[in-house]
Amino acid sequence: MTNTTALITGANKGIGLATARQLGGLGMTVLVGARDAERGRAAERELRDGGADARFVPLDVTDAESVAAAAKLVESEYGRLDVLVNNAGIILADGTLGLPSETTVATMRGVYETNVFGVVTVTNALLPLLRRAPAARIVNVSSEVGSIAVMTDPNSALVELTSVPYPSSKTALNMLTAMYAKELRDTPIKVNAANPGYCATDLNSHHGFRTPEQGAEVSVHLATLPADGPSGLLWGFQMDAGGGYGVLPW
Ligand SMILES: NC(=O)c1ccc[n+]([C@@H]2O[C@H](COP(=O)([O-])OP(=O)(O)OC[C@H]3O[C@@H](n4cnc5c(N)ncnc54)[C@H](OP(=O)(O)O)[C@@H]3O)[C@@H](O)[C@H]2O)c1
Repeated sequence: MTNTTALITGANKGIGLATARQLGGLGMTVLVGARDAERGRAAERELRDGGADARFVPLDVTDAESVAAAAKLVESEYGRLDVLVNNAGIILADGTLGLPSETTVATMRGVYETNVFGVVTVTNALLPLLRRAPAARIVNVSSEVGSIAVMTDPNSALVELTSVPYPSSKTALNMLTAMYAKELRDTPIKVNAANPGYCATDLNSHHGFRTPEQGAEVSVHLATLPADGPSGLLWGFQMDAGGGYGVLPW
């Protein structure tokens, strides 16, 4: 693959960094979105040392000015965008677990600012550049905890999880994915949600049983779908089906 540019938000660590590494390994120019310049530059260095054509792009998904500046940089330097991976995400805004009865609006808002509103801001800022690419792909990094079907299945491994802010933010992200896919169905752009599975990263104090690299495989698969590939799906690791990859229910 040549002359293909991918922007990954939250690419300075975890699944985002692994996604940048893998897309860079495919020959894409990877734009390393990071809100902290030091962490972004360190990731850029690490990726370049590994042979990737990587470039740090300052990008805080909750800051509209930062997003607009990133879009301007992509337009002036690259003219178009082939792949957008909306990967940046947070699990807690204030350190509380988020049981429904204990959840505050402030907690909800904090998580939604990044996981939901940030995705809308970034996607809409980059969409004109994605439309210029011959076959753009948008990957929204979601989670099976955003699937109402999974979370209410009495046989699911997640049956004991009773938390509102993060899971509901991913439910909203799933709906965003479905609606963007619908709006863009007559274009070459494909929009899908990724379920990386439970990966050991800072997000969960490294309790996940999969590696960030394995989680990134899901985003990379959706970022490189062929022309006849699907759009508007939640796809990835299927814990309740005994592992393996496939479509998850919304
Ligand atoms: N790990 C899992 O088991 C798992 C499972 C399902 C889904 N996911 C999803 O996978 C994605 C990546 O998570 P991860 O596990 O790799 O977590 P992580 O290691 O904590 O990485 C999260 C990344 O998002 C960035 N970020 C947070 N807020 C941001 C903002 N406002 N603007 C720009 N970047 C921001 C972080 O930057 P800083 O370093 O500056 O904080 C970091 O680069 C998230 O969307 C998460 O919900 C993870």
